[in-house]
Amino acid sequence: MGQAPAPPGEAVALLTGHTSEPTTIQLLSDRRGSRAWKIQGPQGAVALKANDPDGDNARDKAAEMAQEDDHLRHLTAADALSPDYRVSAGTFDGGRWLAVNWIDGAPLWRALALARDPERDRASVRPWLAGIARTWTEHLALMHAAGWAHADVQPTNTLVTPDGHAAVIDYALACGPGDGRRVPYRGALTHTTAPELAAAVLATPADTHLQAQPAADIWSLGASLFWCWTGHRPVPYDDDLDRLEKLAVIAKGTTTPLRDVRPWPFPAFEDAITACLAPDPADRPTAKELTAAW
Ligand SMILES: Nc1ncnc2c1ncn2[C@@H]1O[C@H](COP(=O)(O)OP(=O)(O)O)[C@@H](O)[C@H]1O
Ligand SMILES: [Mg+2]
Repeated sequence: MGQAPAPPGEAVALLTGHTSEPTTIQLLSDRRGSRAWKIQGPQGAVALKANDPDGDNARDKAAEMAQEDDHLRHLTAADALSPDYRVSAGTFDGGRWLAVNWIDGAPLWRALALARDPERDRASVRPWLAGIARTWTEHLALMHAAGWAHADVQPTNTLVTPDGHAAVIDYALACGPGDGRRVPYRGALTHTTAPELAAAVLATPADTHLQAQPAADIWSLGASLFWCWTGHRPVPYDDDLDRLEKLAVIAKGTTTPLRDVRPWPFPAFEDAITACLAPDPADRPTAKELTAAW
């Protein structure tokens, strides 16, 4: 095995001003041409993202990195994102990097392990689970009010903090007003793709930008909670199918009934998830309506 890739030196030098000299640098992920590290200093930590300079898609990924920075600036200006979140961004000889504030939390799948357990004490898990869904919905409501869709709502882009609040990360694919020239959006993770987006991906050429709408985030939110609470993805399909074949199944709009797979009954929570998964986007609750539903 080779050595873990190091972050761009330019980024580390600049961040030293924010976190002081890093005490630890940890590679978190290295997939599909983009990398992320945790850079810990004595006064705080940041998450640093950069494109893989040697990846086949380095140009596209660098453009995505620049686009995410743009999104963070717009969302902050629109009061849809805390001004503390974006830390810094820049270039290096292999592309672009972006640093955001570190959020101490567990990805949704891991955080919900105890809620998946049918033996758990439901009296204490219920309000905790509802609190995660509510705080997650509140973040989306702020984005949606500003005319944006996150467009990549899925379990790994949601961190649950120790106090039971959801935090939303990864704004690379967000779709908002005045987006100008951008990397075309073609959906994100297959399993959390809303049926109308799945249909649009199938019906349009690969270079056509699809403007994700807030209602698609709501489907993805419901799909993520369904998946991580029950252990089952909401649309049953054969894992051997390729992405487009899976999207064709999703586009039909049918999901597994939640009551068939839930680990234990939680009627209000089940009703809210099921409402999110309505096949027609017009039938889904808005994020604002949903905040009171969990
Ligand atoms: N602000 C953050 N706080 C904590 N961890 C983060 C943060 N941003 C990213 N990460 C971690 O890095 C991983 C990759 O970051 P992400 O922004 O999701 O990029 P991508 O999915 O495009 O690789 C995340 O899944 C998460 O584990
Ligand atoms: Mg991500």
